[in-house]
Amino acid sequence: MTARLGPGEVARAAALLRQGALVAFPTETVYGLGGDATDGQAVAGIFAAKGRPHFNPLICHYPDAEAAFADVHADDRARALAARFWPGALTLVLPRRPTCRVDLLAGAGLDTLAVRVPAHPLALDLLRQAGMPVAAPSANRSGQVSPTTPEHVLDGLSGRIAAVLDGGACPVGVESTVLDLTGTGPVLLRPGGVEAEAIEALLGPVGRALPLAAAAASQSLRSPGLMLSHYAPSLPVRLGARSVAADEALLAFGPALPGAAVAWSLSEGGDLREAAARLFAGLRWLDAEGARQGCARIAVMPVPETGLGVAINDRLARAAAPRP
Ligand code: TXA
Ligand code: MG
Repeated sequence: MTARLGPGEVARAAALLRQGALVAFPTETVYGLGGDATDGQAVAGIFAAKGRPHFNPLICHYPDAEAAFADVHADDRARALAARFWPGALTLVLPRRPTCRVDLLAGAGLDTLAVRVPAHPLALDLLRQAGMPVAAPSANRSGQVSPTTPEHVLDGLSGRIAAVLDGGACPVGVESTVLDLTGTGPVLLRPGGVEAEAIEALLGPVGRALPLAAAAASQSLRSPGLMLSHYAPSLPVRLGARSVAADEALLAFGPALPGAAVAWSLSEGGDLREAAARLFAGLRWLDAEGARQGCARIAVMPVPETGLGVAINDRLARAAAPRP
């Protein structure tokens, strides 16, 4: 049985983490599936609960930059980014310190580690009370859509984890931006909740990981989480829809196209923040409701490729990619 803990039960959630149990918790981006990052068995349990390939490393969560930088080497760029964006939706990939407490399995054996200080008050309270780095991927079964409510978490992981801490819906709705600072120039590994433009305003030009199609062709992925098919609903996904068929479920952006069997609006007014916050809930809802109504696929209206739209389009491209 998975316990559902209220916002007043953070101490209980922290105690479970200290015992090596797995606890899903809210962050400002999506729910994380947390475990003690220093405990190899807890970390192995995270991979098992998600059904996640062991070569895909986890992000470690900390209550503040000082705690994070005790486990990784932070250069001036990392410190400037932390001062500007933490707590927040930015994950930094940095070299592990020799004294790093995080179990090697959490980092999939790499000599780098992804670290983040989340902005959700319940997450920060939990991390402070737990007193250790908490490894946490998104709290969904591997390959499925990330959870932005406790109900989403339970849909995939009920009975597989000790508890979920209920913080309601996640305000940002897409995962953190992942930035690799281990080379000479910063490289954007995953677009996310902090816009690349905001990072470039601080650091100057930021390199991009291979675009999806090129990455798929070369199979030389810098970040295993950049695997092409991801966030996959069970219905096929058609992108760039300018019209909609009667047997399609519609994911709308701006004024909805007429004629869909079922429709979910990301943002009627075309607001990218609202759209990001409603993205994963919409994919889940359309998948269930569309299947119930016998729809053949989900059609997605175009979303502008600026600001948070880059992260939204990245997730949609993965949802639409050919399945393994
Ligand atoms: O918003 C988020 O980032 C959420 C919340 C829970 O914090 N977490 C999340 O974790 O999305 P996950 O495991 O679903 O995605 C982590 C991403 C993956 O793409 C992974 O490959 C990449 O970060 N990553 C982790 N460690 C890395 C490393 N050392 N080098 C390169 N990429 C890394
Ligand atoms: Mg994930």
